[in-house]
Amino acid sequence: MALAARLWRFLPLRRGATLGSWLPMGTSGSRGQCGPGQFRVSEVMRNPGTFKRGLLVSALSYLGFETYQVISQAAVVHATAKVEEILEQADYLYESGETEKLSQLLTQYKESEDAELLWRLAWASRDVAQLSRTSEEEKKLLVYEALEYAKRALEKNESNFAAHKWYAICISDVGDYEGIKVKIANAYIIKEHFEKAIELNPKDATSIHLMGIWCYTFVEMPWYQRRIAKMLFAAPPSSTYEEALGYFHRAEQVDPNFYSKNLLLLGKTYLKLHNKKLAAFWLMKTKDYPAHTEEDKQVHTEAAQLLTSLKRKV
Ligand SMILES: *[C@@H]1O[C@H](CO)[C@@H](O)[C@H](O)[C@H]1NC(C)=O
Repeated sequence: MALAARLWRFLPLRRGATLGSWLPMGTSGSRGQCGPGQFRVSEVMRNPGTFKRGLLVSALSYLGFETYQVISQAAVVHATAKVEEILEQADYLYESGETEKLSQLLTQYKESEDAELLWRLAWASRDVAQLSRTSEEEKKLLVYEALEYAKRALEKNESNFAAHKWYAICISDVGDYEGIKVKIANAYIIKEHFEKAIELNPKDATSIHLMGIWCYTFVEMPWYQRRIAKMLFAAPPSSTYEEALGYFHRAEQVDPNFYSKNLLLLGKTYLKLHNKKLAAFWLMKTKDYPAHTEEDKQVHTEAAQLLTSLKRKV
């Protein structure tokens, strides 16, 4: 692809600031319901955890990557490439949506001891898992592989907020392949790691948003799952819409307009709390959000539908 086209793709879009949609899904797969501990990130997490870093990546990194490839084909780069440079190239490839190249680049460092590299490996593996052309078997392998990388990243550096965030995300991904007991047990672990990520980096809007999604998911937990949870655990995971709302607001404060879905969830949570005025306010804001990604468009549609039904009720 032409250089100009690639640059265009990442310059105006602020892709580094958007992230994938967490569709709470029932074990039956029906929309709008959710299995405990099972979040689904349908698209990709678009925030590598290095907030705004994407904007710093310049045309030079593009050229850098091409040069890098030439050298790496000569197989000399491994020992000499600095972690910083690899990270910059990785972030650039991510911004450009070059999922497979990114994975190729990072897989060369899978024995690395560096937490920054390891969590990016987790992120790249789950990214490839999300591609529509990835087969179901491959997907399962990749999702567990991603979890391994995230776990190692955490082992290498417990103070790395992104490692906590990705560990939480990867655990929720494997929920698809686990039984309900494991999923419920994982729900606590997921929460713990999002909380830790926020504690380590209170400015990371995406972790805060995901914590809000966690809360929203567990208020909406279907009754039969709640019953199972109660039988298995002394304190089943639960939450309130107020708590979810607190996180969505906080994410908005930290980074206003960072993500269409955070606006949508503010609207939806206010709807659940029967505050039509504020629900309408946030849904309008969602509709005004410039749609850059496929997900933004879906979010728009949902906001528009909710607004229409709101008007009908008034
Ligand atoms: C662990 O991560 C933190 C935050 O990213 C960083 O400041 C620290 O230097 C890292 N420690 C090691 C041993 O790499």
